[in-house]
Amino acid sequence: MYELIILGGGPAGYNAAERAAKSGLSTLLIEGRALGGVCLNEGCIPTKTLLYSAKIFDYAKHSEEYGVSLPNASIDHAKVVDRKDRVVKQLVGGIGAKMKHAGVTVVNGRGEIVERDSEGFKVKVGDEIYAAKRLLICTGSEAAVPPIPGLREAVASGFAVTNREILKMKTVPKKLAVIGGGVIGLEMASYFNSIGSKVTVIEMLDHIGGPTDGEIAAILLKNYKKKGVEFMLGAKVTAVGTKSVSCELDGKAVEVDADCVLCAVGRRANTAGIGLENIGVLTERGAIVTNEQGRTNISGVWAAGDVNGKSMLAHTAYREGEVAVNDMLGKKDAVRYISIPSVIYTNPEVAAVGETSESIKAKGIEAEVRSLTLRYSGRYVAENEGGDGIVKVIVDKAHHRVLGVHMIGNYASEIIYGAAMMVENEMRVEDVRHFVFPHPTVCEVIREAMFE
Ligand code: NAI
Repeated sequence: MYELIILGGGPAGYNAAERAAKSGLSTLLIEGRALGGVCLNEGCIPTKTLLYSAKIFDYAKHSEEYGVSLPNASIDHAKVVDRKDRVVKQLVGGIGAKMKHAGVTVVNGRGEIVERDSEGFKVKVGDEIYAAKRLLICTGSEAAVPPIPGLREAVASGFAVTNREILKMKTVPKKLAVIGGGVIGLEMASYFNSIGSKVTVIEMLDHIGGPTDGEIAAILLKNYKKKGVEFMLGAKVTAVGTKSVSCELDGKAVEVDADCVLCAVGRRANTAGIGLENIGVLTERGAIVTNEQGRTNISGVWAAGDVNGKSMLAHTAYREGEVAVNDMLGKKDAVRYISIPSVIYTNPEVAAVGETSESIKAKGIEAEVRSLTLRYSGRYVAENEGGDGIVKVIVDKAHHRVLGVHMIGNYASEIIYGAAMMVENEMRVEDVRHFVFPHPTVCEVIREAMFE
């Protein structure tokens, strides 16, 4: 009998397992595939490994602009994928070691909740039954494959792929069609564009980047159009064939030829086949319903990470797992979703936290938007020939609090946590002015915005 069984060893599950075990709860972690989940094995880390190689290659291609001559620069995609596999292996091994060190028992296999009886919750893995007083469900999400005619068949034949298969692919498609101009679509479009594929992004909305600030999404679009990516915005995919994707654009039928189709139209929570119905856990639109502490409708059962369908980011999952464990231990804690940053690892990077120009309008918040070019930063100018990055700081009129920060430009991914602290701590413009930012850096522009 364990104090806690955790289903799923991704960022929510493994982090919660470590915290719980270190706090004295005997913890069993059940993982059906590899520790690290989607983030480590087929999401964040492999993608960032590929994108870093592409970035090096991009720099090499543009080295002349910086006075460096690298005329024979080339990239070997198969070697990049091999390196990605080594990076993933190392990190997955690291999680295993972490679990061991924390005293977490790890079981490899698919877990299914069987019942709740007077002793607690019973979870079946193969022929084995495990029992615990509490359950934490962290089963994550998987790529959604919508019912577009021909898409399922294309996935089965290998012509269409999701984030999982594309990261394993060792050949470079000459023509890549990407369905969905969200985060996955843009990051993969960025990689394959850099290494030489002809990429077409098909997006049903009239903009890319989903909830990204409109002005920033437009700058990103302009940058990628310049790099040669084709965008079909406001396009409806009508069918996926064996060598092309059929779309409807401005009322006309358009055929996009491709060697490979990436389906990146969002993700679906993994709630099927894990026995939720056996103990009556409530789901809504396929995701487990939780409160700010990760509690489900069933006492003793928590859920964290993508499976709750709230924010679907690895770092949110991390925090949600931690909050759920704190709640189990009787410690007051809650996730503050508004101060969770998000990043798109394109080149240039996009990073954001808090309210957007669009959300303040929708919520009727009286706020001003301070928009500055990153060219105010000496370092940005030195390192970004022709760069058109910006930062936008959203400040509420009544109290001068920083409500949101949005950036496009490299290092944005590393800078945004500082902005998230401003939002989380409800800092005022006057408070931020008291901080000294290092010089020369790109982040200085955020401080500059406090004096606008
Ligand atoms: P997403 O929700 O970011 O984007 C999906 C896009 O597909 C949307 O723009 C949507 O309008 C479009 N779309 C939906 N159906 C369509 C159709 N039939 N035809 C054309 N376009 C269609 O989802 P995505 O990119 O699959 O990513 C999934 C999750 O993974 C997201 O929650 C994302 O935040 C997370 N993720 C985060 C990353 C990061 O933090 N850097 C990297 C990759 C993924």
